[in-house]
Amino acid sequence: MKIYLDTANLQEIETALKWGVLDGVTTNPTLIAREGRDPDIHFKDILKLVYPRPVSLEVVSEDAEGMIKEARELSNLSDNVVVKIPMTPDGIKAVTILSNEGIKTNVTLIFTPMQALLAAKAGATYVSPFMGRLDDRGWDGVKLVEEIVDIFWNYDFDTEIIAASTRSVRHVKEVALLGVDIVTMPFKVLKQMFNHPLTDEGIERFKSDWQALQQKLGK
Ligand code: G3P
Repeated sequence: MKIYLDTANLQEIETALKWGVLDGVTTNPTLIAREGRDPDIHFKDILKLVYPRPVSLEVVSEDAEGMIKEARELSNLSDNVVVKIPMTPDGIKAVTILSNEGIKTNVTLIFTPMQALLAAKAGATYVSPFMGRLDDRGWDGVKLVEEIVDIFWNYDFDTEIIAASTRSVRHVKEVALLGVDIVTMPFKVLKQMFNHPLTDEGIERFKSDWQALQQKLGK
């Protein structure tokens, strides 16, 4: 399972890269806005830092023509750009054209298996079902991912599934058990994946036992 960070924060990306567990990055306009920098400069910084791993950068146009223009410009920035396109009829029209041009796409804001099916048929490189936002409304985000995994398996689609809007380590575990291709998660969730109180307790006990031996030996 590939791990992506869902962030536009350069320090978080650097830390995950140093851990050696990062396979890519996804962003959205909210995450880019949070950093408060000129997007053109910030996009380039992320792309360079993460290279050659993929980075999803989202278009803001709502019509197919505008999305295609933005996508072509974004894909010229670097060969690790994946263009994030919203799940709308115009978005799917844009994905069909872009995939024929060899531009990688990530269809975002997927909330039903049928939306994922349409995106895959249009040739999307990735689809991003949003787990957390569905859970927030009383639906089941993991179930959505499960159904998309099954459908893509039935028809042998090449489109990879990025489980997104990840809120917890439990989300990560449940979709990993389903065999999802990728999970994109906030830095906070990635950090939580390290944790267990028994690990901390074990380290403390090893340390104190070692120190006790040193004292006994007069070292
Ligand atoms: O990047 C898309 C998605 O992961 C956003 O997550 O937490 O804003 O629902 P969230």
